[in-house]
Amino acid sequence: MSVGKEKAKQYLEANEEAIKNIQKIIEEEQIECEFQKKDAYVFTQKQDEIQKIKKEVEAVNKLGFPAEFVKDTELPINVLGAIKFPNQAQFNPCKYAQGLVKGMPNVEIYENTKVIDLKQSQNEYEVITENENKIIAKYVILATHYPIINVPGYYFLKMYQSLSYVIAAETTKQELNGMYINSEIPTISLRTTTLENGKSLLIVAGMDHKTGEKKDLSNKYEELIKIAKQIDPECNVKYKWCTEDCISLDKIPYIGEFSNLMPNVYVGTGYKKWGITSSNVAANIIVDKILGKENVYEDVFTSTRLKPIKNHEEMGNMIKEVVKSLVIEKLKIPQKTLEDIEKENAKIIEIDNKKIGIYKDKKENLYAVKPVCSHLGCELSWNNLEKTWDCPCHGSRFTYEGKSIYDPSIHDLEIINIEYL
Ligand SMILES: Cc1cc2nc3c(=O)[nH]c(=O)nc-3n(C[C@H](O)[C@H](O)[C@H](O)COP(=O)(O)OP(=O)(O)OC[C@H]3O[C@@H](n4cnc5c(N)ncnc54)[C@H](O)[C@@H]3O)c2cc1C
Ligand code: FES
Repeated sequence: MSVGKEKAKQYLEANEEAIKNIQKIIEEEQIECEFQKKDAYVFTQKQDEIQKIKKEVEAVNKLGFPAEFVKDTELPINVLGAIKFPNQAQFNPCKYAQGLVKGMPNVEIYENTKVIDLKQSQNEYEVITENENKIIAKYVILATHYPIINVPGYYFLKMYQSLSYVIAAETTKQELNGMYINSEIPTISLRTTTLENGKSLLIVAGMDHKTGEKKDLSNKYEELIKIAKQIDPECNVKYKWCTEDCISLDKIPYIGEFSNLMPNVYVGTGYKKWGITSSNVAANIIVDKILGKENVYEDVFTSTRLKPIKNHEEMGNMIKEVVKSLVIEKLKIPQKTLEDIEKENAKIIEIDNKKIGIYKDKKENLYAVKPVCSHLGCELSWNNLEKTWDCPCHGSRFTYEGKSIYDPSIHDLEIINIEYL
């Protein structure tokens, strides 16, 4: 409870209320999204985590929430203890979002319309899109995951991204009654659902790391498959994917005014892999702000708070990462040559004092980019599992061809014509 008992209680209540709000919307709008009430468990397989888990139960109980410590779960793996959070919920968020859209017949939604800038003009804003169209608005909500506007706001100084890997495997085992996440590192999260063909799907997610970390990532899916096989040795892996989420320095989302210098612009971000729930908290806080109403939870999430800066350790790590990427990495001279690059892999090499990120495909075709992030100029790292260029500073990601696929970057990488070299 590093934020104090009162704020921790409000945070918990806001999330509990969000579950109720979502359930109410689903019932009222008759959204078919497989909504089910389920207990959620935070479990451990390590003896030295047990005390931590018991303390967490005590802390949550002090806030008035009926969590309990349990020794056993239904999981067929060696669980030493878990916190049980009763009465949580599971649903399909894509079907939920589609249901929300159906419930707003008079709202126009423009897909594939990339926003690249936001300009203040008198009492209004011009939202500028990639094809240079303008949308004029009095109120703007930046719900782009990582805010795409750098200044003011300065979210790039107080937020990073963490990448998680996911596999989904068909299984003949019954659906789990609960939802599970472990308390230790590496993170493992387990869910089951039933497919339209009646088969069960076991979803195993985790193996998180800060986006852009320079390390061998090649075994991430194998590690998740090993866990799936412990649950059902006969399971058949059908899908694999990875995705990232924004993490604020004090681990609490930023919800509310984007910046004191941009009135009527709001933000919801930093959900720390809990945004299906906390985006509902954000929606209510932002709507109340626009309508001039008080919201009991707004203080906990205040997006302009300075508090994260007080988290010196995280801030220190983050600044080190940015400085390392902006300056030190650029001065280091790599001793790599084109021949060193293995097929379906990439390297940063230096030719004529220029750093070039080169990917070699199966047929030995080469794809060369300037390995400098189009967001704020950090040097990119190669993700050898996903075949992407990832940014260690704020988590932008690019294909090996240089296409921007994850914010906060909005522009593609500079392409280098290597015939020319
Ligand atoms: C492995 C994993 C497990 C998770 N499990 C849970 C869970 O159990 N419960 C839970 O509550 N949460 C969970 N989450 C977290 C949740 O999925 C995220 O927090 C949430 O999806 C983030 O929502 P968002 O609206 O901020 O971003 P997004 O869902 O990414 O939406 C942002 C939208 O903005 C659009 N956009 C971006 N840039 C631009 C631009 N320049 N112009 C126009 N549009 C733009 C994007 O296309 C996208 O549609 C999990 C996350 C992960 C990674
Ligand atoms: S994401 Fe910010 S510099 Fe790359």
